[in-house]
Parts: sequence; C-alpha cells; structure tokens
Amino acid sequence: MKKVEQLTADKTSLESYLKGQAWLLLNEKITAIEIPGAGNMNFVIRVKTRERSFIIKQSREYVEKYPQVAAPVERALREAEFYQLISKKESIKNKMPKLIGVDKKNHVLNLEDLGNGVDYTFLYQKNMHLDVAELEEIMTFVAKLHKTINTKTNKARLPNREMRKLNHEHIFIYPYLSDNGLHLDDILPGLQEVGLAFKEDMSLKHAVKKLGDRYLEDGKTLLHGDYYPGSWLKTEDGIKIIDPEFCFFGDVEFEIGVTLAHLKMANQPDALVEKALKIYKDLNAIDDLLCKQFMAIEILRRILGLAQLPLSFDLEERKALLNEAREILVTKGIS
Ligand SMILES: Nc1ncnc2c1ncn2[C@@H]1O[C@H](COP(=O)(O)OP(=O)(O)OP(=O)(O)O)[C@@H](O)[C@H]1O
Ligand SMILES: [Mg+2]
Repeated sequence: MKKVEQLTADKTSLESYLKGQAWLLLNEKITAIEIPGAGNMNFVIRVKTRERSFIIKQSREYVEKYPQVAAPVERALREAEFYQLISKKESIKNKMPKLIGVDKKNHVLNLEDLGNGVDYTFLYQKNMHLDVAELEEIMTFVAKLHKTINTKTNKARLPNREMRKLNHEHIFIYPYLSDNGLHLDDILPGLQEVGLAFKEDMSLKHAVKKLGDRYLEDGKTLLHGDYYPGSWLKTEDGIKIIDPEFCFFGDVEFEIGVTLAHLKMANQPDALVEKALKIYKDLNAIDDLLCKQFMAIEILRRILGLAQLPLSFDLEERKALLNEAREILVTKGIS
C-alpha cells in the first residue's frame, strides 16, 4: 500500500517535503508558515520564502477540524481536475488561483497565493450588504463557467462521486433524521422543537428525496459545487473564487439555488436576490422552479443540519425562512 505523507506546519519537514516536490529551490528557505483563513475540511497553509509565497492544501481521510469524521481522501485531486478543466479558459481561470502543482500520491495541491483577502462569510453578520458590482462579478463568473464547460463543449467528465455522496448525506438525509445526535437547542434555544415539525413532515421528506436523487444523477454542466460566500474571496484584484472540491457535472439549478439560499440567509434584500437570478438568466438558461426548490433545500439543511452558519437571525426569523422553504417544496408540487 502506498504510504501517504501527512504534512504538518513543522518548518524542517515541510521544507524537505517541498524540495522533494521541486516546489522549493534547493537553497530556498521557508521564512514563515501561516494559516491563510478559516477552513474546516482540509489542511491549508500559506508558505512564505524570501522569493515567494504559495498555498499548500492537503486532503486527508478525515475532516481536518473534526478528525473523527471520515471524508474522501482524494478530494484534492478532484479539485485539481476542476482546475485542469478550466486551464484554457482565460476569463474563468483569471478569477481563480493558478494551480502550480499537484502531488497525486499525497493528495496535495500547490496553489497561487491570492493574498490576505477575506471571504464573504461576513455577509451573515447584521447590516452587511453585497453591492451590485460585487453581485455582478459573482453571478457572471458562475454563468460563464456553466456556459463554457458542459457536456456540449467538453468530452471530459468529473463525477466526483464520493464527495457528492458525502454532500448528499449532509444536505438531503441527516437534517431529517429524528435522532441524528445534533442538539439544535445548543445552536439556538427552541430550534429543536421547530425542527421536529420538519422532520415529521412526510410530504416535505418526499420532495427532499426526489431532489436528492436528482443531485446524485449526472448532469450536463460543470458546477463549482459549493458556490456560497465561503468560496468567494475579496482580494486587492477583485473577487476570486476558491475551493471547488465539491465540483461535478450536474444541474445549474443546484448551484444557483445554493447561492440564492445564502443571499437570503445573509439577509440580503429580496430585490438583490432577484437581481442575482436575473444577472444569471441574462447569460444562461435556468429552470426557475427547480432553482427555487434547491434554494429551499439549502435553507433547510443549513438551519437544521450539521453545517451551521454564523447567522444573525433569531428563532422567529429562522422559522419564517424554514416555512418559506417548506412552502416552495410542498405546495409548488413535486410528484
Ligand atoms: N489561493 C489562496 N490564496 C489565498 N488564500 C487562500 C487561498 N486558498 C485558500 N485560502 C484561504 O484559506 C481558507 C481555507 O481554504 P479552503 O476554503 O480552500 O479550505 P477548505 O479546507 O476546503 O475549507 P472549507 O472547510 O471551508 O471547505 C480560505 O477561506 C481562504 O481564506
Ligand atoms: Mg472546502
């Protein structure tokens, strides 16, 4: 069996690993190792030398922040495949870090350092608004991605089945299990009882199952797969998009539904949420109803599931969003 080298932030062993990959010159020394930003899934560090800096990202067989939780060990290689697929598409490529190198054996990426940017998760805080120019950048990037790389334009496929299975579990199954070990009252007192009504709603669960099956089917378009504020970096050179580890060929409605859900959970004005969809629709076709259904799914799972967000909504506000989501899924009819 191949032996995987587990990277650490130890300077001496890291220098020797990087030289082994020819990612450092023989006389080049590491001057600093930093944590570039908050992440959960992977081992991500910034390496600085006198000459340059770059980002090292290793995927392990578990979630970095929760080592007891298993995760597909080769996910960094799927992320690398995404970068390969966009490598000749300048307008998409320019908005993402360059892939400098891949170590397939140890599941490590060497990525261009985009600098000390912050991601857009600050949007969940009260009174934080995305301006229209930023929204344009975000929606235009994703529309271009979808238009450029799909089964009509590309022979290559990227099923990323294991990551999809993991996501499916977290989005479509886990939030609806009555006894999943998650105590919603620890997140917000009263949320457990609110959640119960959703876990017991059979018509809702039927709709969720249908959309879950659809998520697992192969679709026509290369998706980023996790297109939410945590994947948008605010840098000196404008907005950059990172972390396509959940990428796959799927339905554009899933991708955009997720984005709209996060704009709503970040309490952006309805007009801005509608504008996001409009910007997208002016560039690429989308089924509105299916998009809203996936939006509803993402709202439900983020409020009732394990992958919680730093939302500023109180219980009543969360309840209102959950009810709106249920309405979309149940009354708009999924047969
Ligand atoms: N190329 C880059 N340039 C600059 N900073 C970066 C770069 N890639 C990642 N970062 C920073 O590191 C953080 C973690 O990176 P990333 O999101 O790729 O890791 P992750 O483990 O997949 O995170 P998550 O658990 O959110 O999926 C990012 O939020 C960002 O702040
Ligand atoms: Mg990630």
